[in-house]
Amino acid sequence: MDERKDEPVVDERRREVLVTGGALLAATALRVGTVAAADAAITLPPLPYAENALEPVISANTLSFHYDKHHKAYVDNVNKIVPGTPYAGLSLEDIVKKTVNAPDQSTLFNNASQAWNHAFYWRSLHPKATATPPAKLQAKIVASFGDVQALKKELAAAATSQFGSGWAWLVADGDKLKVMKTSNADSPLAHGGKPLLVIDVWEHAYYLDYQNKRADYVNGVLDKLLNWDFAAENLTRA
Ligand code: FE2
Repeated sequence: MDERKDEPVVDERRREVLVTGGALLAATALRVGTVAAADAAITLPPLPYAENALEPVISANTLSFHYDKHHKAYVDNVNKIVPGTPYAGLSLEDIVKKTVNAPDQSTLFNNASQAWNHAFYWRSLHPKATATPPAKLQAKIVASFGDVQALKKELAAAATSQFGSGWAWLVADGDKLKVMKTSNADSPLAHGGKPLLVIDVWEHAYYLDYQNKRADYVNGVLDKLLNWDFAAENLTRA
C-alpha cells in the first residue's frame, strides 16, 4: 500500500526532472541560437507585410516560395561562406561592394547581392501603394521622364526586355533619375549607384502566377504595388 502510495510521488519527481531538464535544454538552445544569430554576418529581414498582402498581383504562394525559400537560401549561403574570411563582420552592403569585382568571390557576390536585392525588392512594393509619388520625387520624375506614366513605361520596357534573370531599377543619377536593368544578381548598388526602387524579373518572382507572361506581372506591379514613399526615402539617403 505504501509502495502504491509512493508511486505518484516518484512519477511526480520524474515529471519535475523532465520538465526542469526540458526547460534547461530549451534555455540552452535559445542561448546557442542567440549566439549563432549574433555571430552571423547577416539576417533575413522580416517581410514588411503578410505573405498574402500583395494579392491579386502576387499570390501568397509565390511570395511564400520567393521569401521563405529563395531569399532565405541567399542569406543562408552568405552565412555559410563568410565566417573565417575577410568579409566576416561586414554589412551585407559592404560585402556586395567589395566582391563585385573579385572573380574568385563570385559565389559570395551572387548570394550577397541577391540577399540585398531581395530585401530591397520587398520594400519597393506596398500592398496599399499610393498612386502619386511624394512631391519632391514627383518633381524629379517630371524633370527626368515627363510624367509618372512615362517612367512606368520605361520601367516596363526594362523589365520585359531583360534577357533571362535580372532586375529593373529606378536609380538616382546626379540630379536626374534613370531606369536601368541588371542581369542575374547584379545591381546598381554594387557599382556605387543609388537605387530607389526595383522589380524582380527572375522567373521565380512570377512564374507560379503568370507562367511565361512576364509583362502581366510587371504591369500589375507598376499599376498597384510600387512603393513611392520608399523611393522618396532612398532619394534623401546620403
Ligand atoms: Fe527573386
